[in-house]
Amino acid sequence: MRPLRTIPVALPGRSYDIVVGQGARDALAGLLAVRRFEAQSAQTPSAAVAASGVVIVADERVAEIHLATLLSALPPSPLVLRFPSGEASKSLSTVARLYDELAAARTDRDAVLITFGGGVAGDLGGFVAATWMRGIAYIQAPTTLEAAIDASIGGKTGVNHAAAKNLIGAFHQPIGVIIDTDFLHTLPARDFAAGLAESVKHAAIRDASFLEWQRTQAGQILDRADDVLLELIARNCEIKARVVEQDEREAGLRAILNYGHTIGHALEHLLEYELRHGECVSLGIVAENELAVRRGLLDRAVAGQLAGLLVRFGLPTRLPCALRIEDVIDRCRADKKTRGGMLNFVLLRGLADPIRVADVSPAEIHAVLSTIAPR
Ligand SMILES: NC(=O)c1ccc[n+]([C@@H]2O[C@H](COP(=O)([O-])OP(=O)(O)OC[C@H]3O[C@@H](n4cnc5c(N)ncnc54)[C@H](O)[C@@H]3O)[C@@H](O)[C@H]2O)c1
Ligand SMILES: [Zn+2]
Repeated sequence: MRPLRTIPVALPGRSYDIVVGQGARDALAGLLAVRRFEAQSAQTPSAAVAASGVVIVADERVAEIHLATLLSALPPSPLVLRFPSGEASKSLSTVARLYDELAAARTDRDAVLITFGGGVAGDLGGFVAATWMRGIAYIQAPTTLEAAIDASIGGKTGVNHAAAKNLIGAFHQPIGVIIDTDFLHTLPARDFAAGLAESVKHAAIRDASFLEWQRTQAGQILDRADDVLLELIARNCEIKARVVEQDEREAGLRAILNYGHTIGHALEHLLEYELRHGECVSLGIVAENELAVRRGLLDRAVAGQLAGLLVRFGLPTRLPCALRIEDVIDRCRADKKTRGGMLNFVLLRGLADPIRVADVSPAEIHAVLSTIAPR
């Protein structure tokens, strides 16, 4: 029996498990059966048409490679809705098309939706689940490292607006997160590395010993050795789950997960998705650490240690091309993490010691961005 790890996410009335490991997909049937039983028990006898089935919202490329394997773990004949791979699909127009397909298939509120793909599938499919008939149950089945360790956990769903990323969304917790590491082996190296940026983020804000583990296991991590992959994902899920449990709606603590993301999101928008989300987070971590160092909050040696690990993982620490610094600052302002016109950042005072600051000036951002400019 291959080892599976289960990480509970305890939320009032909405608790669920994250199941990680090789063959974790086999847990899907049980989860669906429990759900169907609950849905049937909640119905009046006259409406006992029962749960109508399963809808899969799948990234096209992931479906091409892995859908048959996923289907082999599911009850027969689910409705499969595909969308083109890439961030551009995280849009209201894709949502509208998916609604049309759900309507055509007469999908009712007892359906269970499974998101299958990376963070785009999870955010897009999760948003459809959050809004179809005012919310149906869904399961996250992430196939990228980014989605496995970050996007699939915590119930943040949504799509982009032309004005900024993730402007339209809803909190909607899944009924389970099934992370089958078998699916992760076909992920291109660049996408795998991009996910590692979130792993560095988690360790930096919560767990210095995990950072050290990543440093010593870096080679094995990049090789995706099964036992190391399981440990990597499970430890990240633990960190994310514990933060979400304490602050589901980002009223406070959860904001620490935005470390590296204020500048990261701005860069992501400006580079028109030429860089991966995780690559922008890597640049954001380096720039925001520099900000902390210049404020006298963070030891330069710690910033260097974090940058060293990002480089080891093949992540960028300098911009690929010149950007107008004013544009980056404007994008930081447009980000929804800005409140009352002030620029909010999560900065480190040391490993596992993040603080939120709300008084970062454009001049400070200007200064640190010049340190990650292309050589
Ligand atoms: N909701 C949240 O809390 C949260 C957190 C972090 C990130 N996100 C969002 O996640 C998105 C980024 O996620 P991502 O990096 O997974 O991007 P993605 O979903 O676009 O996947 C990256 C690429 O990998 C391909 N792919 C996926 N799985 C594969 C596999 N197993 N084998 C081969 N190819 C595969 C996809 O087709 C795609 O081209 C962003 O939109 C970001 O905003 C959301
Ligand atoms: Zn992120």
